[in-house]
Amino acid sequence: MGNIVGIDLGTTNSVAAFKFADVEVVTADDNQAPDRKLTRSVVATTPNGIIVGETAYNQLKADPENTIISIKRLIGRGFSDPVVQAQLARLHYKITQSIEGTDNSLSVWLGGKEYAPEDISAEILKKVVQNAQLYQSQKGQKSTIDRAVITVPAYFSDKQRYSTQAAAKRAGLSEPELLPEPTAAAISYGFKPNADDVKTILVYDFGGGTFDSALITAAGTQFIESGKAGDLWLGGDDIDDRIIELVKQQVAAEEDLEDIDGLIAQMPHYQKVRFLGDLKMAVEKAKIDLSSSLSAKIIPATPLLDDLGMAIPIDVTVTRAQFEAMILPLVERTISICQEAIKYSDYPADAIDTILMVGGSSQIPIVQERVKAAFGADKVVVHPRPMYAVAEGAAIVAAGLTEKVGTVSRDYFIELADRSHYKIIQQGDILPVSNSYTFKTEADGQSLIHFKFFNTDLVNQQNEKIGEMWLALDRPYP
Ligand SMILES: Nc1ncnc2c1ncn2[C@@H]1O[C@H](COP(=O)(O)OP(=O)(O)OP(=O)(O)O)[C@@H](O)[C@H]1O
Ligand SMILES: [Mg+2]
Repeated sequence: MGNIVGIDLGTTNSVAAFKFADVEVVTADDNQAPDRKLTRSVVATTPNGIIVGETAYNQLKADPENTIISIKRLIGRGFSDPVVQAQLARLHYKITQSIEGTDNSLSVWLGGKEYAPEDISAEILKKVVQNAQLYQSQKGQKSTIDRAVITVPAYFSDKQRYSTQAAAKRAGLSEPELLPEPTAAAISYGFKPNADDVKTILVYDFGGGTFDSALITAAGTQFIESGKAGDLWLGGDDIDDRIIELVKQQVAAEEDLEDIDGLIAQMPHYQKVRFLGDLKMAVEKAKIDLSSSLSAKIIPATPLLDDLGMAIPIDVTVTRAQFEAMILPLVERTISICQEAIKYSDYPADAIDTILMVGGSSQIPIVQERVKAAFGADKVVVHPRPMYAVAEGAAIVAAGLTEKVGTVSRDYFIELADRSHYKIIQQGDILPVSNSYTFKTEADGQSLIHFKFFNTDLVNQQNEKIGEMWLALDRPYP
């Protein structure tokens, strides 16, 4: 047994695993029932200090302003990022520009104190490691866990990766190693050290906050990611948001309310945040029920209040048919992202051996149906442990059983005088990369060159500036 652990640091749930004789996922008493393997990625404050996991999640109802959920959606981002601005309305805790720090950094607030997203992720990691430590010691292993392989979405930018590493260091983990989540899932499914046949696996990871897809070629101990695409804002949280809209529409129709959003907005602050926190929990539960039942009830404990402050209790039934019609556009989007990843990999779609479905949202029946319809039912495999697969793969890597073949996660561009984006490094290239190009100077006598570097997120159609550099030349050039 080692002192290095594999960790899936998820938007909604985090999971730790070890590779002993077999891969074992850590169980802990304070994790989620029934099998106690998932630590909710939720951090809250109480008068007695910071709490993490299931107890923090349970505080979402009572005190959503002091309960931080989905921090992974904010890590490595700036306050002014449009995607962050779009989230402000749905996250009930305070998010601001950092008081100190760069122009485009952000802070979250807990118990009246300012925290960087890295601090919050560090609290989650500390809890996960503490549980892993206990689990390991119950197995008779005394060594201290001080290293980890931590998974990140394949599509995370350099800044998001860097911030995740910073969080791991704040949690006391030295030399944290990052591993793309789809690669981890493929390793957990396809790790056969003696296999010499090459398999092509398209990983379909539909989690709580992120959809990630990557094409991975696997042979024995080697896993190489060749094409990837993803959307860091497409997951179970977005499905929940759609159900919340449906509940609001249904209540508005039944109670003849003209402006239900206006009513919610004018509720006393404390009741409003409690109502919204409660609604989110009831909706998530109903969504999970709909994976096995044909209808589910949404009955948040806190009522909506009308103009006069009178309670309007909410009791809405959602059928599976309604639910499926509502989420179909999201499911179709996951499939077009897969096609994007395949296009990038330069593999023909029919060369793919297996479509491997992982992540909590892959358990939704319509999601499985659409993926089977798109890629052929015989090729689609739902991972037997869809919510643990990523942590299991991380544990195999942590045990040093795979070869480390890193690939570039996104295309890299520079800006030229006559072209806004010129690609210098291609995603999927095997690291380390070295390329050479020839360019002309812009003016006679030029002795300085200003380089601007970009990542382009093709799926979200955004350009992200990742840095710049002035290069002084040895002499003026014509
Ligand atoms: N049986 C189920 N049916 C539908 N949705 C489910 C089911 N079980 C869990 N979920 C949803 O899956 C999501 C969590 O999945 P998972 O644990 O894979 O995400 P994560 O790893 O935390 O997120 P990410 O990978 O995006 O960072 C939540 O939105 C949860 O509501
Ligand atoms: Mg995940």
